[in-house]
Amino acid sequence: MSKFLNLYLPAAGGTALILGSAYGLSTRGYQDDTVAALQTQLEQKEVVVADASAQAAALDAQVAEMMAANEELLARAAAGGGLTDPAPVTEVAYGLGRPALDEEIAAWDVDVLPDGRGLPVGSGDVWTGEELFVDNCAACHGDFAEGVGNWPVLAGGFDTLADEDPVKTVGSYWPYLSTVWDYTHRSMPFGNAGTLSDDDTYAIVAYILYSNNLVDDDFTLSNENFLDVEMYNADGFVVDDRDVLEYAQWRAEPCMENCKDSVEITMRASVVDVTPEDDMAEEASAAHSMSDDTAPAEESAEAENVQASADPALIEAGQGVFRQCSSCHQIGENARNGAGPQLNGILGRTIGGVDGFRYSTVMADAGAAGEVWEAENLTAFLMDPRGVMNGTKMAFRGLRSEEDAAALLAYLQSMGAE
Ligand code: HEC
Ligand code: HEC
Repeated sequence: MSKFLNLYLPAAGGTALILGSAYGLSTRGYQDDTVAALQTQLEQKEVVVADASAQAAALDAQVAEMMAANEELLARAAAGGGLTDPAPVTEVAYGLGRPALDEEIAAWDVDVLPDGRGLPVGSGDVWTGEELFVDNCAACHGDFAEGVGNWPVLAGGFDTLADEDPVKTVGSYWPYLSTVWDYTHRSMPFGNAGTLSDDDTYAIVAYILYSNNLVDDDFTLSNENFLDVEMYNADGFVVDDRDVLEYAQWRAEPCMENCKDSVEITMRASVVDVTPEDDMAEEASAAHSMSDDTAPAEESAEAENVQASADPALIEAGQGVFRQCSSCHQIGENARNGAGPQLNGILGRTIGGVDGFRYSTVMADAGAAGEVWEAENLTAFLMDPRGVMNGTKMAFRGLRSEEDAAALLAYLQSMGAE
């Protein structure tokens, strides 16, 4: 074999082998070589296919196994088996670990449930609790559980739950005493969790109840009277029944057409300049026909007020075109500045001349130079605002046609100075 093949054989494996056989065959006819090479390729493909189906079979087996396991879980759940059931015994031995000792399980098994399950035997009174609380808890929760700084308040806040800023405390909010016992015992004092003995915990919980005026100062809490304590907000929680009440509603077929009785157009996409240019022609004609029949009564009253010289039809068309401006500009009696300045008497008005409106520099400068809006420069500006006044704040793409501009100008002119 050539040096080339020797070098590459270990690294390139199969490829080199093909090359090798092709090389060895190279004294034969060209066609034979090709056939041989194709044959080799074919054999390789067959190996790959065989591999893949073996993998697929293995996956099938896995899936079947998982489905069986799942079925078993479902069956257990259906039979009422819950999370507290002992883990199923598997047939496979993994050779890892050892059975947990009873003491080890007990050390983890500290949860206390609302019905008292899990409570250890023990007791503690309010006065002992006060001392323990001052030593262990007051630094953060205050001497009277009233909270220090931003640390949680544990007492008071009664009847604030419906307020905008409810004070949720053990007293005002917590429905179960078991949570207070469990949480304190399990995770307080903050940073030193798990250090409280059972009796200490009873005493501290008794003191927290006392701080909330839920028990008297001579009270002793124990595993025996634990369930007799009535929590203030015990009835403040309801069972979540949304799966019954709401689920069906959300599952209903959604309405996809003709869902409203009447349709009202409140804004046009062309005004906020989001409609792609191509659809503009259609849009424009729609806008025109709209202006004919849906112009608000107030505006048509104003339109009647036109100067005798102007063509009423043109002005009315212009009023329709002005819809493109009206999201930013007001015109007419009591017109005020909005996103853009009011446009009363705009023809003949100094550019950038409305007091109290903050113009772009380019517009303010034009005004400072004494320039005035006339038919010609206004038309040019409205056809292409940013092209004509580079740097203008007016985010408007420009009018669509000279006809629109002419109509609009007639309308603007008709609106006079006031
Ligand atoms: C170093 C400060 C600190 C100390 C000391 C401390 N806590 Fe807390 N406590 C916190 C913080 C912080 C939280 C809130 C923890 C959270 O939300 O995860 C909290 C939460 C609580 C809550 C729940 C309050 C609620 O409404 O959610 C209780 C009850 C409580 N602590 C009791 C105690 C008791 C009893 C002691 C003394 C044995 C104690 N804490 C000691 C900082 C402290
Ligand atoms: C998206 C909001 C917006 C739309 C739509 C809009 N403008 Fe403007 N317009 C402005 C703003 C902002 C300015 C101030 C420009 C500047 O300072 O550069 C302005 C300035 C103007 C001015 C100059 C006013 C002056 O005091 O010098 C005129 C005239 C004008 N617009 C007319 C129109 C007309 C007519 C339309 C409709 C075809 C229209 N604009 C559409 C926001 C708008």
